Amino acid sequence: MAHNVVVIVGSLRKESFTLKVANALAKLAPDTLKLDVVTLHDISFFNQDLEANPPADWLAFRDKLQKSDGMIIVTPEYNRSIPGVLKNAIDVGSRPYGKSSFNGKPMGIVSNSPGQLGGVSAAKHLQNILPGISGPILQQPEIYLNGVGDGFNDKGELVKEALQTVLKQYIDAYAAHVEKHNK
Ligand code: FNR
Repeated sequence: MAHNVVVIVGSLRKESFTLKVANALAKLAPDTLKLDVVTLHDISFFNQDLEANPPADWLAFRDKLQKSDGMIIVTPEYNRSIPGVLKNAIDVGSRPYGKSSFNGKPMGIVSNSPGQLGGVSAAKHLQNILPGISGPILQQPEIYLNGVGDGFNDKGELVKEALQTVLKQYIDAYAAHVEKHNK
């Protein structure tokens, strides 16, 4: 049976390149993976005062993560880091203390940008944030997708071959990572 993987999209924008990259990954994934692309519109602000009686949206998000066999975070770069909505979702998923819903799950990190640097700083920040709360992060290949601005057609489908090649390499390597850590 295919492994269920949650793909967390770090941008709320309707025409988001990040969302298009996530959808492209879902299409390129081998049969061993079933990717569930999740946006963060419904996750309310983390507030430690609410931890004793968490809002339904936090519980639903945590439940989805816990039931998955792994996660891939696809992120844009905002001011050389990750967007606030993504950090908020990570904070929500990481709690209660010691019971992170990311715990033990094989992780993937994919950054992207229409610019030259491919969101590498955002990806590096995730590599700082996740180790204390998640399972093993796929180390190679690294993927920092640059020049995504002309990567998609009007329907949001991936048309740039160079991007397709690296995304396919990445999702195949990630599939092996999930197999290895779900035995
Ligand atoms: C950006 N952008 C950006 N790009 C980049 O490569 N490095 C950066 O540090 C930033 N900083 C930044 C800050 C803020 C507040 C915004 C709104 C944008 C540009 C960004 O890559 C571009 O808007 C992408 O299209 C955002 O991703 P989505 O929404 O297309 O997925």
